[in-house]
Order: sequence, then structure tokens, then C-alpha cells
Amino acid sequence: MRASRVIVDLAAIRANVESLIAVAAPSRVMVVVKANGYGHGAVRVAEAALSAGAHGLCVALVQEGVELRRAGIEAPILVLSEQPRDQVGELVAHGLIATAYSVAFIDALADEARRRDVVGQEVHLKVDTGMNRVGARPDSAVELGGRVLARSPQLSLGGVFTHLACADDVRSTVTSEQVRRFDAVIDDLRRAGVDPGWLHVANSAGTIAHPDTRRDMVRVGIAVYGIAPDTAMEDACSMIRPAASLVSRVSFVKRVNAGDGISYGHRHHVERATTVATVPIGYADGVPRRLSAVGGTVLIGGRHRRILGVVTMDQLMVDMGDDSCAVGDEVVLIGAQGDERITANQWGTALDTIGYEIVCGLSARLPRVYVGDDADAQ
Ligand SMILES: Cc1ncc(COP(=O)(O)O)c(C=O)c1O
Repeated sequence: MRASRVIVDLAAIRANVESLIAVAAPSRVMVVVKANGYGHGAVRVAEAALSAGAHGLCVALVQEGVELRRAGIEAPILVLSEQPRDQVGELVAHGLIATAYSVAFIDALADEARRRDVVGQEVHLKVDTGMNRVGARPDSAVELGGRVLARSPQLSLGGVFTHLACADDVRSTVTSEQVRRFDAVIDDLRRAGVDPGWLHVANSAGTIAHPDTRRDMVRVGIAVYGIAPDTAMEDACSMIRPAASLVSRVSFVKRVNAGDGISYGHRHHVERATTVATVPIGYADGVPRRLSAVGGTVLIGGRHRRILGVVTMDQLMVDMGDDSCAVGDEVVLIGAQGDERITANQWGTALDTIGYEIVCGLSARLPRVYVGDDADAQ
């Protein structure tokens, strides 16, 4: 197996889920495992989350739900958006919960359920209260809710939800406006005699920073992985810890002369003679090419070491100065070594993005190694 790998601590996933369950109580917790569990491995994360007490799981794609079902997971799985027509059969066949916000999709779902003799296919209605991505307009919610009811017995309205656009910005007034619109929709539905089922609004930031967004259920993603939704929320997230580390080992060591250029384009020339260590991980693994240009470091021997020159597809170079270093020495790109730590959010800040994009960008080429399994603890 490659020396470069993602180490996922399942004990951290379980502990984070338990902490989030305590924060969200009495709301139920759905754990979001789309995008291969934010790069951590959907099946293993899902199993750990369910063993820690999560009520169910959320995915973005039918194929992601099918992967969980094929792994033997029987918990509720909500697909967070409407899906292409050619996916509806698989959605119904695997007992996934559908999200709907259009007449055409509700009808397609009902037709598929009838064809397959499925009774009570669960549907959650998604209302767009301000994200402006997907969802029904608030003024069409009653009509759509009625449409689901009219397709009884094929369909059952299991819930109504919305997604927050700015919950990670605690000063923003957008969240309270979204909640106000959501509550108005729920009032309209109830007045029209439609039981909306489970209500859910909060993502991680909502769950942690906006108690009024915790309704019957919350949908937490990034916090499960131990990453604060925003660096300004780090203090509020002291009850979670990062689950993933990105590590490698030095593959080559050499001495270079003052003035030598390093890596493609020789964008960096060393000022004085120095020891350069090569690490076998690159942008094809999800380490951005320009990480060096924004002051990126790795940890070797318990200290930060600057990345020299552009990150190449499969390898990068770091400055060891006059410190000794040998092939096989441990390299930490994300995670802790000695007293030092590098986080996904630090990469995100330096690269003008967010920790989410960093962990989701760790490519399939990197093996995932799991530690802290329930089985290990016995
Ligand atoms: C609809 C929906 N709900 C919940 C989440 C989870 O968000 P977070 O990872 O910020 O907790 C996402 C993630 O993007 C989402 O798209």
C-alpha cells in the first residue's frame, strides 16, 4: 500500500456524532455522507455514525445511497435533491427516501412506486427559503404537499425541509429570514390540512450556532468529520475533533546548492544550500498545485517545513534546512505531529476556499486506512 494515505479515526467520528446528538437533542441526527463521506469513506463513516446513535444518513446521489444499501445498511437514507428520471427506479427499489420539489418528479416517483408495487414511498418536500439552489418556491409548497397526498397510497409525505445559505456566518440575518419563511410554509401546509411530517432545517453550522434551526431533525455533515463549518466557528466547535489525517513518508533526500531552482518552472530558487526532502504525494492526490505559493508547509520531525516550488502531480519537495532527514521519515500534511498541527481549514483559508473542499478533494488514489474501529476496542 502507498505510504501516502488518509488515516480516518472512526473513534473520532463516533465521538463527534455523540457530541452532535447531545447538542441537537431532542432533535434526531441525520449524518450527511455524500461525496464518499466528505472524502472519508461513506460506508465506514455511515456504520460508525449509526453505531453512535445517528438516526439515518443523507446522500446527494442515488448511487451513493445504493452503495450504502449494498454494504448492508438498512437505516433511513435521504437523497437530498430530486434525481434524474432514469435514477428513480433505483431510488424506489433500494428504499431510499426521495426529496421532491416539482410536480413532474412527484408524478414520476408515484408512477415508479406503482409499477414496483411499493406502498408509501417516503418523500420529503424541499422548500427553497433563500439558498436559491433547488427547492420549491414557498408559495407552491401547499400545492406540492397536496400532490404527494393525492398520490396516496404510492407516496407518503415524511417531511418538509429547507437548506441554510449563511448559517456559518453568525452575524448574518439571512438565517432568521429563512427560518421565518420556513415557518410560514409549515403554517400554510397545516392550515391546508397537510401534515408536513418531520421538519428539518439545520446543517452543522445551524445545529451548533442557531438553536432555533434545530427542528425534529438536523442534517450534519462537516462537523461529523471534526471540521468547523467556518474558521470563525472553531471555538464553538471545541466538542468535535478532526477524523482524517493526510500522511506520507519521505521518498528521497538530497542537498541542493544556493540559487538552485526547485520543481517545474523553477518558480522557487533556494537562497542558500539546503536539504530537500521529496514526498510522494501531489495534486493528483488532492494536494493543490499552488499550496507552496500560499506558504504551505508539512510536518516532518515535529516541525513545519515549507513546500518548495510547485506541487507536481505525484510528488512535492520540502525544505529541511540543515536538519537531518531520511527516506521513510513520517510526513504529516493534515493532522498532528508532536505539538504541531495542520488542519483542513488552514489549507482552506490559505487557498481561499474551505475545509470541505480540501477533504472532498482527497482523491480516490489515496488509500483510506481506518483506525479506532469498534472492533479494535474490544
Ligand atoms: C441539503 C444539505 N443538508 C445538509 C448538508 C450538510 O451541511 P454541513 O456539511 O455544512 O453540515 C448539506 C451539505 O452540503 C446539504 O447540501
